[in-house]
Amino acid sequence: MPLSSKETLDLFGKYMIGNYGRAPLSIVRGQGSYVWDAEGKKYLDLLPGLGVDGLGHCPPRVVEALRKQAGEMLHIHNNYLIEGQARLAQALLKHLTGMGEAKAFFCNSGTEASEAAIKLARLWGKKNGGKWKIVSLENGFHGRTYGALTATGQPKLQAGTEPLLPGFAYVPINDAKALEKALEDKEVCGFMAEPVQGEGGIFPCTKEYLDAASALCKKRNVLLMYDEVQAGMGRTGDMFAYQTLGAPAPDILWLAKALGGGFPIGALLARPEVAEHLVPGTHGTTFGGNPLACAAGLAVIETIEQEKLLQHVRIMGEHLGKGLLGLREKFPKLVKEVRRIGLMAALDLTVPGKPYLERCRAEGLLINCTHDTVLRFLPAMNVKREELDEGLRIVEKVLGAEMK
Ligand SMILES: Cc1ncc(COP(=O)(O)O)c(C=O)c1O
Repeated sequence: MPLSSKETLDLFGKYMIGNYGRAPLSIVRGQGSYVWDAEGKKYLDLLPGLGVDGLGHCPPRVVEALRKQAGEMLHIHNNYLIEGQARLAQALLKHLTGMGEAKAFFCNSGTEASEAAIKLARLWGKKNGGKWKIVSLENGFHGRTYGALTATGQPKLQAGTEPLLPGFAYVPINDAKALEKALEDKEVCGFMAEPVQGEGGIFPCTKEYLDAASALCKKRNVLLMYDEVQAGMGRTGDMFAYQTLGAPAPDILWLAKALGGGFPIGALLARPEVAEHLVPGTHGTTFGGNPLACAAGLAVIETIEQEKLLQHVRIMGEHLGKGLLGLREKFPKLVKEVRRIGLMAALDLTVPGKPYLERCRAEGLLINCTHDTVLRFLPAMNVKREELDEGLRIVEKVLGAEMK
């Protein structure tokens, strides 16, 4: 018998560090876009696993691949060849465009992938004129470990944990002039950006901006680096977000979240002339690219390909976007803006979003609220039209109730 949500809450109070703002709900089961709490209540989850469960909860191919792999080999360390790593790299790199004969490195999470990217940029930079500094975007998010946190241009997330890493500078999104100025520093080795800022509230870089960024990076011999931890793996309607934006390919790109379909894995992909700077002794991880994680990743890619999910994401994304725009028309005083690309969407409110989030949950809909006013939707890539409609109806009801 699972514990009740209340019993689990009590255990948390007694034994767990309180570093998360958790809803008092113990979620015990999931299938597709639905989850059930310990009391048996069903919820529509339009933010499954904060983007991790990109194929919904317990996608059958991933579950099966994990079961099979678990019976053969759970873990073997990186001093041996791991077939799944090579096969996953091959499957991923097949979808990459404009990065030459790129190579892959696997780790366990988004923040680890950001760390690997920062280290690789420095290793490359030291050999390319002694450069070591990084420029990133204000309002970005790259993770919680020190390199990734320093790259995260959000002082509120850094507060109290200083000193951060030296050598980081921040520029506003979609401001090519500001980037041009920042790259005048001859010690800069890399410019990193999320092609679509996710945690920051769904703000896409424009194609024009990334075109300009790519040209500026080339001119200054600086690496162009895309963090696609949240926007990558099909979420925007292409395997990689820069492809949806029609933006230039980067020198380094990294992934995590949906790559493992619920199992932890991160990946860094780099052009060969950059990748060659990660040599034995420079970087590594004990767990990274373990056989289970790679089996999950392969099953994710196979599912995206075989179920033609990229096309589905584009169609469902438009449907969600229309619905959200309808809500903006219906509630102009409450909804400031709708931002969307593929199945990444934000309903930016004129008021704090938390009370609405809580009412959505009470009505059986799970989403989240970021940056105080942004209701964020990252539905599973195989979400059904009826499920989106169900979610939109709940949001409409919740927004409407507030108007009275
Ligand atoms: C763009 C981006 N980069 C990095 C991270 C950090 O990933 P993780 O939480 O797996 O460390 C996140 C997590 O939300 C993210 O959205």
